[in-house]
Amino acid sequence: PEVITVQELANRMAEKGADLVKSLFKMGQAVTLNQSIDQDTAELLVEEFGHRIQRVSEADVEIGIEGDLDPVESLKVRAPVVTIMGHVDHGKTSLLDALRGTDVVAGESGGITQHIGAYQVTTKGGDIITFLDTPGHEAFSEMRARGANVTDIVILVVAADDGLMPQTIEAINHTKAAGVPMIVAINKCDKPEANPQKVRERLLEHEIVVEDMGGDVQDVQVSALKKTGLDELIEKILLQAEVMELTANPDRAAEGNVIEAQLDKGRGAVATVLVRKGTLKVGDTFVIGAESGKVRALVNDKGQQVKSAGPSVPVEVLGLSGVPMAGDQMTVVENEARAREVAAYRQEQITRKRTASVPTNFENMFSALS
Ligand code: GTP
Ligand code: MG
Repeated sequence: PEVITVQELANRMAEKGADLVKSLFKMGQAVTLNQSIDQDTAELLVEEFGHRIQRVSEADVEIGIEGDLDPVESLKVRAPVVTIMGHVDHGKTSLLDALRGTDVVAGESGGITQHIGAYQVTTKGGDIITFLDTPGHEAFSEMRARGANVTDIVILVVAADDGLMPQTIEAINHTKAAGVPMIVAINKCDKPEANPQKVRERLLEHEIVVEDMGGDVQDVQVSALKKTGLDELIEKILLQAEVMELTANPDRAAEGNVIEAQLDKGRGAVATVLVRKGTLKVGDTFVIGAESGKVRALVNDKGQQVKSAGPSVPVEVLGLSGVPMAGDQMTVVENEARAREVAAYRQEQITRKRTASVPTNFENMFSALS
């Protein structure tokens, strides 16, 4: 995806825009000052001009002297982020509820669980798993299209009495496109008419070969209703997560993605954010999509106010200037001036994208070259 305009990149490097256009032309790209280029091209240019690149976030390039990549020694293991997908009525919500019922922490506190679209479950063994509440497939692909690949693992729920249905196949395709590993949960196995074997066979048609059939996709028979197979499912999630070696640096300015957001009567604009890296703290100044703000309060999935949230932790964030969109990037910045600057820049990008259908004008190109 295009991340920055040639002019903007030139400004940040304090180079002449026309020089960048010339270089791009030599690289075989006919691009004008106001056109956007992708990350790889931007990085090439930056190197060519003898600068170093720093990523404010995946979607926001900044040129700086210091690198922004997290050194290996700063990386710590983080919880896997798991999304449950599947056909309507196959038991996604029931399964998530059942899994939340196994949460030893919620059990202890007896706290009322909030609906914030994302939950953390602490397993008996003390491991933590983050679950995303069944977003519509549209939301999933929309978020992916916007560069927000927040899911590490997909659980494909298939009802054993109903088998593969249109949305099951859609979910398979979305998962494949996202390049995310899948675990198949064959649900409703308590039903007399359940036929899990048939589900496994039908999955073959979509190149999903489960372990039982000699493949490497994990599958597990469950009943969300009778709460069977849940421990095995959790085990398989943890096994998959271990293989993936999921890590993040918790000791840096936070970055995350909006899972959902709304205007709340008493509390104003509220966003549920999944922290990807760093630690988000009360008082932090941030940009979220094209909005900015200062964290007034953080509320966890148990409805409790917390002071901070680290990698893979979902939290409600209060203190936004407006309502962002699902998938939007949240980035903590050093001060409010910087927040306004980045927010304005992103707003401008959004506006530009809307007008991006204007055809390339050769006159523009040559005036930039001269
Ligand atoms: P949507 O969100 O509408 O797509 O549905 P869903 O996939 O979240 O399904 P939901 O959890 O709402 O379950 C649909 C129906 O199936 C409900 O009536 C559940 O009680 C029932 N159900 C879910 N899991 C099981 C199960 O393991 N066994 C049986 N017998 N019924 C189940
Ligand atoms: Mg549901």
